[in-house]
Amino acid sequence: MTTLSLFSGPPPAAGAESFRDHTQRLGHRPRGDRALIDTLDRSGLVGRGGASFPVGVKWRSVQSRSRGAAVVIANGAEGEPLSRKDRTLMALRPHLVIDGALLAADAVRASRTLLYIGEAHGAAAAAISRALAERPPAELARLTLLGAPPSYVAGEETAAVNFVNSGVAAPLATPPRPFERGVDGRPTLVQNVESLAHAALIARYGDAWFQSLGRHHAAGTILLTVSGAVAKPGVIEVASGCSVDEVLALAGGVSGKARAVLLGGYFGGWIRADQAGSMVLDPSGLRAAGGSLGCGVVSVLDETADPLDVSARILQHLANESAAQCGPCFFGLRSLSAATTRIAARQADNGDLPQLHRWTAMVKGRGACRHPDGAVAFLQSALNVFEPEFVAAAGARGRRAS
Ligand SMILES: Cc1cc2nc3c(=O)[nH]c(=O)nc-3n(C[C@H](O)[C@H](O)[C@H](O)COP(=O)(O)O)c2cc1C
Ligand code: SF4
Repeated sequence: MTTLSLFSGPPPAAGAESFRDHTQRLGHRPRGDRALIDTLDRSGLVGRGGASFPVGVKWRSVQSRSRGAAVVIANGAEGEPLSRKDRTLMALRPHLVIDGALLAADAVRASRTLLYIGEAHGAAAAAISRALAERPPAELARLTLLGAPPSYVAGEETAAVNFVNSGVAAPLATPPRPFERGVDGRPTLVQNVESLAHAALIARYGDAWFQSLGRHHAAGTILLTVSGAVAKPGVIEVASGCSVDEVLALAGGVSGKARAVLLGGYFGGWIRADQAGSMVLDPSGLRAAGGSLGCGVVSVLDETADPLDVSARILQHLANESAAQCGPCFFGLRSLSAATTRIAARQADNGDLPQLHRWTAMVKGRGACRHPDGAVAFLQSALNVFEPEFVAAAGARGRRAS
């Protein structure tokens, strides 16, 4: 069994680790410098907020533009409804997240460091707030705690930047991306809190150590939120490269008979249960294959649930949660959601199913941010995995009427 790194075992029940326990366990925070960026490159660490982008590459992009005036945003917004891993990490290991944010700030030569924590995540925000009070005054002076509004898009990187600049957590058109011009027009590193916590450990133990934690050439560990039809839902830390079957076993096994697994959350996709079990959870590998582990959500749908109803609700949430400031969200997502809801209610109009296929192609790539693309990718996975159910439900109204 691999030695796990963020929790060194299952998440502890004891509550937030104090600064004293943190430093006794891990020693003091090492230096954040260019050498650390090289170490991160070699470690293979990729971001845990959704896009699985290499962390070292991102830090270097900001550092090379910084001139000592960059900004770091530690992203703990966690607006994904099925995810709990970031708030759990912040509630239990707040100093590891703070270490990661300070290391990033040193490495990219930032003059401001913001901890952007979902304002609805009370225990996490309270733990970070208490942890800040335990820090030496010189560190405390460098850090600002900021509440992220409770919306799905608030955690998107340009929305986070927009919120700091204007108080509005709505995504902005890119380019420029935050690493080019973000907070106050400065190069801004937006990094998920789990990514930062891993970086804080890699700074201490090195790239070879991180590599050794993974399996089958995958690097490090990942935090997952397991939910749905499992005996023990919750947050677990696993070795990258382990299989979905192993994750489900750690979550106490599937209760009932699994029909499908939602991997990656609302921006992820459905996978048929008979294909999901052997899937390897390696963020870099999945990214290279054009897939994504997203923010580490693994949710099991059993045979008793109606997959169309569940999919329609998720799509409705995504349509409602968009900032609705661009056409693809204002018109596209709303229409897609309405048609899916009619099909799920067995009240479809004749053209609803063909329209869904047509609209998904039209919406893709048209928004200012990736929100509509994520929603459409989710819907496409539903249309693929539950094709027979969609076809039967779309025709149900006509059959009832005849
Ligand atoms: C609609 C939307 C919502 C997002 N919400 C979050 C979030 O809550 N937390 C997060 O870390 N990243 C979120 N992201 C991803 C961020 O834009 C960004 O890629 C991430 O914070 C970068 O950190 P990472 O490279 O460590 O993953 C979201 C992206 C989109 C498109
Ligand atoms: S694409 Fe949608 S979520 Fe993104 S900025 Fe436009 S309206 Fe907002």
